[in-house]
Amino acid sequence: MDGPAAPLRCRLLLAAACCVAAAGTAAGAKVLPPPSNLDYSFIQMCTLNWTWNPPENVSSSCDLEYSSDIVIDEVPQDKREWSKSRFRVTHTYLNEEMRFKVRSECKYDNTSEPSRWVETALLPKGIPGTAAVGLNCVWHNLEYMACMWRPGENASRDTNYTLFYWFDGLENQEKCNNYSVEQGNFECVFKLSFPKLTNTYPAISILIRDDSEDIRPMCASKNPTTLVKPATPRRVTLSKINDDIHVEWSHSDTFPENCLFYEVKYHNGDLDTTPIIKVENNYTSIPSIDPNSKYIFKVRAKPKPECYSSELYSDWSEEKSIGEKMDSTFYFVLIITIPLIVAVSTIILLVYLKRLKILILPPIPDPREILKLMFGDQNEDSQGCAKDDSVNTYDRLIKEEEIHSLVLTETPECTNSEKEN
Ligand SMILES: *[C@@H]1O[C@H](CO)[C@@H](O)[C@H](O)[C@H]1NC(C)=O
Ligand SMILES: *[C@@H]1O[C@H](CO)[C@@H](O)[C@H](O)[C@H]1NC(C)=O
Ligand SMILES: *[C@@H]1O[C@H](CO)[C@@H](O)[C@H](O)[C@H]1NC(C)=O
Ligand SMILES: *[C@@H]1O[C@H](CO)[C@@H](O)[C@H](O)[C@H]1NC(C)=O
Ligand SMILES: *[C@@H]1O[C@H](CO)[C@@H](O)[C@H](O)[C@H]1NC(C)=O
Ligand SMILES: *[C@@H]1O[C@H](CO)[C@@H](O)[C@H](O)[C@H]1NC(C)=O
Ligand SMILES: *[C@@H]1O[C@H](CO)[C@@H](O)[C@H](O)[C@H]1NC(C)=O
Repeated sequence: MDGPAAPLRCRLLLAAACCVAAAGTAAGAKVLPPPSNLDYSFIQMCTLNWTWNPPENVSSSCDLEYSSDIVIDEVPQDKREWSKSRFRVTHTYLNEEMRFKVRSECKYDNTSEPSRWVETALLPKGIPGTAAVGLNCVWHNLEYMACMWRPGENASRDTNYTLFYWFDGLENQEKCNNYSVEQGNFECVFKLSFPKLTNTYPAISILIRDDSEDIRPMCASKNPTTLVKPATPRRVTLSKINDDIHVEWSHSDTFPENCLFYEVKYHNGDLDTTPIIKVENNYTSIPSIDPNSKYIFKVRAKPKPECYSSELYSDWSEEKSIGEKMDSTFYFVLIITIPLIVAVSTIILLVYLKRLKILILPPIPDPREILKLMFGDQNEDSQGCAKDDSVNTYDRLIKEEEIHSLVLTETPECTNSEKEN
């Protein structure tokens, strides 16, 4: 009956009905019946077990397989899987619509077409926009996980979000109890550690919800190795060994051997450059380029990519310094005082020189005679030495030097004329 004429008839006469049944696939093969009773159940807070029954009347020659896929908020996730078992376990997000679809296929068989898809959806609960947003977790020093999030834009300000976590190996989900809220940002910290020899870590499921039905719950799955942040290196010590500076710090004792490297950053107070050295040990040495300057060091740690796929550095250690350096106020004082001292001593020297000149060479060649000669024309109309400005200036200079007596004895005429004035 089902000869080569059948597809032709299908196309020509029964196009619509037939092609819907064939799910748009090429004609010529018998279309398989689909699986039935597709359903889901939670096996953990964020984990679903999708189950279905086998199709009926499948010929024994068919090597039956189920193909399944996931669509989230209408976006196909491209997570197609083929299996012989009649269930599939998936993660769920809870704050988005999740559709699961499955069909039956006969493997290595071109005489039958895959069945149509059967699907079922898991719809989000609560009011849209009330789920926690911006979840960000950091695994500190392989010891504790700190997760931060913000309330959804439609959530009331006093929403009491609660964080639960679970991973393969934990019997039941655990509730996080150490909360803090800062400027509307929530944070919860919980202990998370595995035996030191472990080198594979399970995915961590995180559920954030509120007791109120109105608040939409949200689930996330985190790969802990991408979240590793080492502790800040402690006990940074500096010492000078044969003109080299030796830097040493303590290893983190929670990390396995050889799973961290360190960055040592240092600068010499005078330079703007801050070289960074990468080291695998807990010490390094740098040559002390300038023995008279101060060197400042800090250290941070980063997981090695062979051990963890995390890009997070530890915080920088506190800065430690070695070596002496005249501090800048001292330089400032020097810059101000040196010229001042030079200037003052020059003045003093000049004054002394003048005094010395007077003492050593008493004015035998009366300077006034010279001045009179020099300013002779100005002296012509003056009536006495008192009116002679140049001479007066000279006298005053001498007076200022507190050698009045000398002046008095040398220029008696002058004092007289001054008295007259
Ligand atoms: C999912 O459900 C099926 C049917 O009840 C069961 O056989 C299977 O073990 C379940 N899978 C898991 C991982 O619990
Ligand atoms: C399966 O086959 C039986 C008998 O061969 C038939 O009665 C039944 O309707 C078939 N079921 C389906 C779903 O085709
Ligand atoms: C199925 O495949 C075989 C060889 O792979 C081929 O000879 C045969 O014609 C195919 N049948 C159909 C219905 O396409
Ligand atoms: C918040 O609520 C409004 C009104 O119900 C809605 O239009 C909006 O999409 C919600 N916000 C989000 C992020 O869902
Ligand atoms: C959150 O908890 C506080 C104190 O327990 C309570 O006063 C408040 O009403 C709660 N908020 C909501 C939205 O239930
Ligand atoms: C809670 O977390 C803080 C760090 O955020 C930590 O210092 C404190 O010891 C924790 N308390 C408990 C009881 O775990
Ligand atoms: C550096 O590591 C060595 C061996 O791992 C250890 O003995 C030493 O104490 C560490 N240095 C510091 C400052 O902790």
